[in-house]
Amino acid sequence: MKLVSAVIKPFKLDDVREALSDIGIQGVTVTEVKGFGRQKGHTELYRGAEYVVDFLPKVKIEVAIDDDMLDQVIEAISKTANTGKIGDGKIFVMPLEQVIRIRTGETGPDAL
Ligand SMILES: Nc1ncnc2c1ncn2[C@@H]1O[C@H](COP(=O)(O)OP(=O)(O)OP(=O)(O)O)[C@@H](O)[C@H]1O
Ligand SMILES: [Mg+2]
Repeated sequence: MKLVSAVIKPFKLDDVREALSDIGIQGVTVTEVKGFGRQKGHTELYRGAEYVVDFLPKVKIEVAIDDDMLDQVIEAISKTANTGKIGDGKIFVMPLEQVIRIRTGETGPDAL
């Protein structure tokens, strides 16, 4: 299993959620976050201000999936969240050791 964590522009959240539903994703966690990437939150660096860091509002989407869904999930997120402009975000993929569905006690892929 994998845990996919994507940081995207907030206004793209609905589109990404829909794209994930379309490929059969059953559960998603969304968190409002702040962050910066290579431009350090600036669309342009002003002269003399290169050490100033501004955090910009972003949305983090977490999806736990079985391995065979990984390519589809990455494609769905990267297609929908892409505007072609800086700050579109990043997708992080982590190995996921275990999942437990609390109500039923199911574990592993059955619990997703
Ligand atoms: N290396 C990183 N580690 C953790 N979070 C990151 C990292 N890079 C980016 N992020 C998160 O993703 C958000 C969007 O990053 P962003 O898309 O600006 O990355 P970038 O590398 O600057 O790419 P671009 O040049 O397209 O803007 C950041 O605000 C931050 O929350
Ligand atoms: Mg950036």
